[in-house]
Amino acid sequence: MYVGAIDQGTTGTRFLVFDRDASVVAGAYETHEQHYPEPAWVEHDPGELWANTQSVVESALADAGIAPADLAAIGVTNQRETTVLWDAETGDPVHDAIVWQDRRTTERIEGLSDDLSAYVQETTGLEPDAYFSASKLEWLLENADPIEPTRSATRSVRERAESGEVLFGTIDSWLIYKLTGEHVTDVTNASRTMLYDIHDCAWDDRLLAEFDVPRACLPDVRPSSDDEYYGYTDPGGFLGAQVPVAGALGDQQAALFGQACFDPGDAKNTYGTGSFFLLNTGETPVESTHGLLTTIGFQRRGEPVQYALEGSIFATGAAIEWLNDVSLVEDAGETESLARAVDGTDGVYVVPAFTGLGAPHWDPRARGTIVGLTRGTRREHVVRATLEAIAYQTRDVAEAMLADSDVSLSTLRVDGGAVKNDFLCQLIADVLDTDIDRPVVDETTALGAAYAAGLAADYWRDLDALRENRRTDRAFTPRDGDWDAKYDRWQDAVERSRDWATE
Ligand code: G3P
Repeated sequence: MYVGAIDQGTTGTRFLVFDRDASVVAGAYETHEQHYPEPAWVEHDPGELWANTQSVVESALADAGIAPADLAAIGVTNQRETTVLWDAETGDPVHDAIVWQDRRTTERIEGLSDDLSAYVQETTGLEPDAYFSASKLEWLLENADPIEPTRSATRSVRERAESGEVLFGTIDSWLIYKLTGEHVTDVTNASRTMLYDIHDCAWDDRLLAEFDVPRACLPDVRPSSDDEYYGYTDPGGFLGAQVPVAGALGDQQAALFGQACFDPGDAKNTYGTGSFFLLNTGETPVESTHGLLTTIGFQRRGEPVQYALEGSIFATGAAIEWLNDVSLVEDAGETESLARAVDGTDGVYVVPAFTGLGAPHWDPRARGTIVGLTRGTRREHVVRATLEAIAYQTRDVAEAMLADSDVSLSTLRVDGGAVKNDFLCQLIADVLDTDIDRPVVDETTALGAAYAAGLAADYWRDLDALRENRRTDRAFTPRDGDWDAKYDRWQDAVERSRDWATE
């Protein structure tokens, strides 16, 4: 028997099958289309995400010769905050999903009163921002026209949401609905909606009223690892078997779980398009006064919620993609050799604030900035400065975590595409003055979802069995250097990137 994990991310959908040792025995991946209907708007077609999910599950199993009935359970992990509304009668989306990166509701959030902003932070643990689902859902309820006329198309989307005929969910919820017919989400995903009280673990009436969200359209919130199961796949459906869907976590929380960060003080940073640095704070939600988010890390049924502090950095891998887009590198791999070809950046700093700055600055109007160019600047310097920016942004968050929680980080576990670059891993160790640990199984996000589902289905015994599964691929220890002075200069560069966009 095995456990399967669906990992529906911002750029694509992956299905991986794991055995008891956490080795990947089957996998498939497909990208989907990114829609940019207006500048700073980003949408995905939920129908395409579901079609791709079915296709990666089918092809991974077929290629490896694994029968669906050999899956003890399926877990789901997903790009967080991305907001979907669908018609309960037809199961079809009523609009494209609004993606977490979308900034169309920035002004709405900027208009929140100080009192409400403080309430948002106290209740949800989040910094009020268009990043989260609340204002995206409000926008959809106001603006979505049904894509296809249905029986009840003569009534507005909001009216239908009020009677539970139109349902809201983040991507986990959407996929679990398509897989099992159940309308549920897990606590970690609920904690990113900006509508959920992370202390009482309940939808919050005041925030629902503020964003005009009817309760009837909300999913039931369940533990991330649930031995009562969210539901079963339909034996008459695409999989042709009844498999329990038993675990779900937002992708960053899934990576925390997949990295076996089960204890307070354990931390991981995932270097994808953006970077998401999570520190497990145990049963205590630590309130941040330094620009971090307090969020739910995971919950197993019958056990208390485990909290995390999160530093969400919007652009890290995206900065490497940009180097490629503007032809400074031929591929991501080339950044390593170019950065090694020079001793330093020659005073160049790159601040990759393409879509504003997230933690700990939270400036939606910041924009990408390069400072310190001279006639002697070569592309090697700009490439190296871009990699250094990734390390500096990590340190920005690490310092905020230290200030908020008093936890001194002994080791940071890393994963994500960018950490294949040894130069970058060493740089992060040097700039943070912290040990960096890269695991053998780098698909930690899918692994976390598999762990959540597999624990619920008794495929894995307990957390100790998962701790034993974690193996280090390579550890990086900090070397001496004048990083404090360079880091101070980085802060000056960040200042110059701030408050730039006028709309
Ligand atoms: O909060 C957004 C995050 O969950 C997106 O992650 O890996 O899909 O870019 P990713």
